[in-house]
Amino acid sequence: MDEKIALFTIFGGTGDLAKRKLYPSLFRLYQKGLLKEHFAVIGTARREWTDDYYREIVQDTIKDLNGTQEEITAFASHFYYQAHNVNDSENYDTLKALSDELNNRYQLEGNHIYYLAMAPQFFGTIVRHLKSQNILTEEGFDRLIIEKPFGADYNSANELNEEIRAVFPEKDIFRIDHYLGKEMIQNISAIRFANNIFESQWNNRYIDNVQITFSECLGVEDRGGYYDHSGALKDMVQNHILQVVALLAMEPPVAFSEAEIRSEKVKALKAIRLYSEEEALQNFVRGQYGAGKIEDNQYIDYRAEPHVHENSQIETFVAGKFLIDNFRWSGVPFYIRTGKRMTEKGTRINIVFKQVPVNVFRRDCDENIEKTDLPPNVLTIYIQPTEGFSLTLNGKEIGQGFTTSPAKLDFRHSAETTANSPEAYEKLLLDGLNGDGTNFSHWDEVAQSWRIIDIIRQAWDKTPVAFPNYAAGTMGPEAAFDLLAQDGFHWEWQP
Ligand code: BG6
Repeated sequence: MDEKIALFTIFGGTGDLAKRKLYPSLFRLYQKGLLKEHFAVIGTARREWTDDYYREIVQDTIKDLNGTQEEITAFASHFYYQAHNVNDSENYDTLKALSDELNNRYQLEGNHIYYLAMAPQFFGTIVRHLKSQNILTEEGFDRLIIEKPFGADYNSANELNEEIRAVFPEKDIFRIDHYLGKEMIQNISAIRFANNIFESQWNNRYIDNVQITFSECLGVEDRGGYYDHSGALKDMVQNHILQVVALLAMEPPVAFSEAEIRSEKVKALKAIRLYSEEEALQNFVRGQYGAGKIEDNQYIDYRAEPHVHENSQIETFVAGKFLIDNFRWSGVPFYIRTGKRMTEKGTRINIVFKQVPVNVFRRDCDENIEKTDLPPNVLTIYIQPTEGFSLTLNGKEIGQGFTTSPAKLDFRHSAETTANSPEAYEKLLLDGLNGDGTNFSHWDEVAQSWRIIDIIRQAWDKTPVAFPNYAAGTMGPEAAFDLLAQDGFHWEWQP
């Protein structure tokens, strides 16, 4: 692939995301020759840092990535630091001067990527200033990559969107959902659309229910200030999980292009039933972790975590049932669950197929043989920590008589392949450089997701519950199991 040419301006250049994800991802692109001589990075944040200090920090973030010292130093020499108060217009003038200078020095052809990796309340201000202070040019491209959260509900998201759209056209806005950069999330489309064995069955005639689990062992760590306003519903379901539901539920696009995929995803999201508040309470369950053990480690209550309110009503766990009212999915529940401090880190999707119409192995007439129900065929997509997929089928047990038992066809990428595959952020940054928005969230998707989520949030806000209701190290409150049991199902994955 050709070398990419661009100037990155990272707002939030001293932050955790920049250090953990962005700099290492840029370095991997550099090691692959996708970034070479014609790129530069301006990191901005409030604190006063020198270029030298900034470069030291950047080098530190990539020290474990098998680069030679020469490579690391050469890469870091493309980084520049600019102390910046986002509300101060003059600071943008300095930024413009530096951008122009770097544009000339590195021959960047006016290509510019602005990356907003900081507190969302500043997104609007920054974007307005980019225009008013004439930082945006007619030359090359100006693209905006924007981190979540995109709003706190539909209204605030819409307001933010209008502010941004007054400056950037939709095609230049790249709303990050890092799950869309994950290998196995991208693989959902391959599994569906490259295998007739699945696509021919991918509907309510053959699928009983779909189960999506995004469990984490981590607690809120040092993010209590943010999380205690957001909660699991807004932190995970509004974005990552609904994106996955859309990819699983959408109709086959007429071509595998950004516009076609997007249009199908939007249609799928629009088909998700908008519950009344009462229905939301019936179909969604929330939980908050209390003290408990994961392996040998003892953990404290969520409410005792730093920056969390002592009587917090914020959920650290959500389980729920989405219904999709269209021809393909009518009657097929999509169950989802996600939470912090659960038994283990595991992101996986289970597609549970319907039973055969008649179980001929059921021996009703012979009282000595127990009646058995056949277990369902299950297609599992493992997203992380291992990556791959498996299919559970029924076979005959070896020996006399005729007893069936499940057999699993299991494919996992090797640890080596997984370790060498590009990280989500690396892929998404490259997509941004290529102007390819396929793996980003379009405004129509974000808007519809908020409409779905707002109802659940409003219903919950009106009905406080007794927290904590699950212990750290478990798979959530009992109600999350009852949710499926009342429909005659159970979570296929029970670690
Ligand atoms: C982020 C959430 O979007 O995703 C975090 O804000 C969560 O709370 C994280 O921990 C999970 O991402 P991953 O890639 O580690 O599964």
